[in-house]
Order: sequence, then C-alpha cells, then structure tokens
Amino acid sequence: MNTILVTGGAGFIGSNFIRYLLSSAVGFSGRVINVDALTYAGNLMNLADLEGDSRYSFRKVDISDCAAVEALFCEYGIDTVVHFAAESHVDRSINDPESFIRTNIMGTWTLLDAARKAWGARKDVRFHHVSTDEVYGSLGPEGFFTEESCYDPRSPYSASKAGSDHLVMAWYHTYGLPVTISNCSNNYGPWQFPEKLVPLMIMNMAERKPLPVYGKGENVRDWLHVEDHCRGIWKVLTGGKSGRKYNFGGNAEMRNIDLVHLLAEITAEQTGRTAEEIHSSIRYVTDRPGHDMRYAIDANRVREELGWEPERSLKEGMAETVRWYLENRKWVEAVRSGEYRTWMETNYSGRLF
Ligand code: NAD
Ligand code: TYD
Repeated sequence: MNTILVTGGAGFIGSNFIRYLLSSAVGFSGRVINVDALTYAGNLMNLADLEGDSRYSFRKVDISDCAAVEALFCEYGIDTVVHFAAESHVDRSINDPESFIRTNIMGTWTLLDAARKAWGARKDVRFHHVSTDEVYGSLGPEGFFTEESCYDPRSPYSASKAGSDHLVMAWYHTYGLPVTISNCSNNYGPWQFPEKLVPLMIMNMAERKPLPVYGKGENVRDWLHVEDHCRGIWKVLTGGKSGRKYNFGGNAEMRNIDLVHLLAEITAEQTGRTAEEIHSSIRYVTDRPGHDMRYAIDANRVREELGWEPERSLKEGMAETVRWYLENRKWVEAVRSGEYRTWMETNYSGRLF
C-alpha cells in the first residue's frame, strides 16, 4: 500500500481513520488522499491537526462525479481505496431518500468502475468498502448477525448500503476486482455529527434540553468505539482476504433508554449535576417508522482470522466521549450552525470552493 484514497474522510469515522492511519500506532509511510464532497456532515476542522503533513492531501470531489473520480486515479496512482463516503443518517433517509440513492449506490458504482478501469487485472490493489450491520435487518431478542446472514434492509439508508455491498461483490465476481467489505455496528466517539443518538443526547444534556427517546426506548443497539472500528479496518486491509466480508461489533448491546440513563449518570458526574435532574428531561416521542428492533454482531471471524477484539469498554468509551463533547462545544456549535465553512475558508490553506 503506497497511496490510499479515503472517501468521506472529512466525516466522523473517516476522519478518525485518517488520524489513526497517520499515527505512530500504524506507522504507515505512504500517502493518504482524502476525497470528500463536504456535505453538512463533513468538515475539515475534524482534521485540522493534519494540515501541513506532507503525507496527507485533501480534494473536494463528489464521488458520483465519474470524470472527477477517474481523474483522481490517474493523478495519484492510487493502489488502495477505503470507501466511507455516504449519507449516513436513517432519519434523513426517511425524509429525503434521493441523496442516499445518489451517493451510496451511484457513488459506490462510480468508484468501483473507476478502480476497475485504472487497475485492470492487478491483484496488488484493494477496494475496501465500509458498511453497516443494518443491511441484515432487524433481530428479535435472540441471535446475532454473522457474515452469512441474509440481507434484509428496512430503511432507505440500509437499503442503499445493501445495494452498495451487492455492487462491490458484483465487481469482485464479475470483473475480479480485489475487494473486502466490513459491516459494523453503531459507532460512537469524537467528531460524530450531533444528530446521532450519542452526541445528540450528550449535547442536549449539557444544554438542558429535552432528551427525545423514540417509541418506548426498548430498541437495542450494539456500540463500538470508533477507534476500535478504525483498528479493525486496518486489520482487514493488511490481513483480510479478497472477496471476503468481515463483521465488527462491540459486544456491548444496550437498550436505548438504558444508554440514555448511562449517559445521564456520566454527564452528571462530569458536570456536578444530579442524574435525577437529567433523567427528568427524557421525553418519549413518536417512534421512527420501520424502526429496527435489535442489532447484534457475531464477531468471531475477525477475532479468529484477524486477531481483532474491541479494546474500550462501553463505560470507559462513553465517559471519554462525554468529556470530549463537553470540552469541544465550539466544534459542536460550528458544525451545527454551518459556521465551520467560515473556519475552513480562513484556516484551510488549499483550494476548497
Ligand atoms: P458521516 O455522515 O459522519 O460522514 C460521511 C462523509 O461522507 C462526510 O464527510 C460527507 O461529506 C461525505 N460525503 C457524503 N456524500 C458524499 C459524496 N457524494 N461525495 C463525497 N463525499 C461525500 O458518516 P460516518 O458515520 O462517518 O460513516 C462513514 C461510513 O461508515 C458510512 O459509509 C456508513 O454507512 C458506515 N457506517 C457508519 C456507522 C456509524 O455508526 N456511524 C456504523 C457502520 C457503518
Ligand atoms: P442513530 O444514532 O440514529 O443510529 P441508527 O439509527 O443507525 O441505529 O440511532 C440509534 C438509536 O437511537 C436508534 O434505535 C434510534 C434511537 N434514537 C432515539 O431514540 N432518539 C434520537 O433522537 C435519535 C437520533 C435516535
């Protein structure tokens, strides 16, 4: 691996992945090209500390722009793609599915075809697609998703990710493109856009706003710290087999309402308030249509084949995350209000718009 194209590197997981890749923990000595359209969810403040690092470049490109994507492969001699770019929020996909179809399906097709044209029959290259456990649908109280579970997506978001997974496997079987896919459970950690459950709850607690819990709060999610996920992706890139899928999970299932209680206790501890006062702001609101009941991952394959385990416990990871959001309110304000665009225009040395 000499030149890695990371798509969606200005978003939550992508920015954490680039920082991890260029950290001393990995010792990667090649180049990273971050390609991102900078939608509402992507901003370069997430990677401000890498400004000036000669191993890192940013290009503002929409992944569904065929000509621009093909030009990137020619210009940089890319040999590895790590594809994060996506519309990623289920609630938005319910109100406005179009951008999900365009980016998640058409964008993935554009990248796959550009890679195929640039790489021909090369086998010393890799296209890694970052996907979600939501493609497998919804579990009852028992059982886990494995890599063999049938696809059964229920939301426009998960259906668009399922479509992209199928395209990736089609490019492997039909054209011999060297690919891998990882399907991961819910991530949490620093730099997550504050519309997702964990940062939304932390900020609403900090700002003494109501805490909206969908339905009865009984839906179960499995939580994985974003740095554990990034380490897993690196393991797949370096040890995973072409044409193979890998599931990642945190072995940390929790009902939403219990997670909100946990966050309330941590926030109370860190702010000197009482957990009871924070609990009193919980509001049960109308449920999300088609709300998947439970996700849970069997991560045996990555444990046995790649020696991967989550390192952060849920409590430790959530406590760190609450602290990060409380200490980075300026970032939250900037991304929520769109002010980060002004920040980028004045602080970013490259050409953006
Ligand atoms: P995010 O919404 O924080 O970031 C997505 C990034 O993609 C943003 O920087 C955005 O600007 C960029 N982008 C969107 N449309 C684009 C386009 N047309 N062209 C170029 N860039 C575009 O998302 P995230 O939470 O970091 O998720 C990253 C990937 O991981 C997604 O593919 C998602 O499906 C997958 N995933 C996320 C989770 C999770 O819990 N967040 C779990 C499993 C898998
Ligand atoms: P979310 O963070 O949107 O991730 P996903 O839908 O991909 O799992 O939501 C996590 C869970 O929290 C999900 O069951 C929906 C629920 N939820 C709430 O109860 N209230 C909220 O305000 C949000 C955003 C989510």
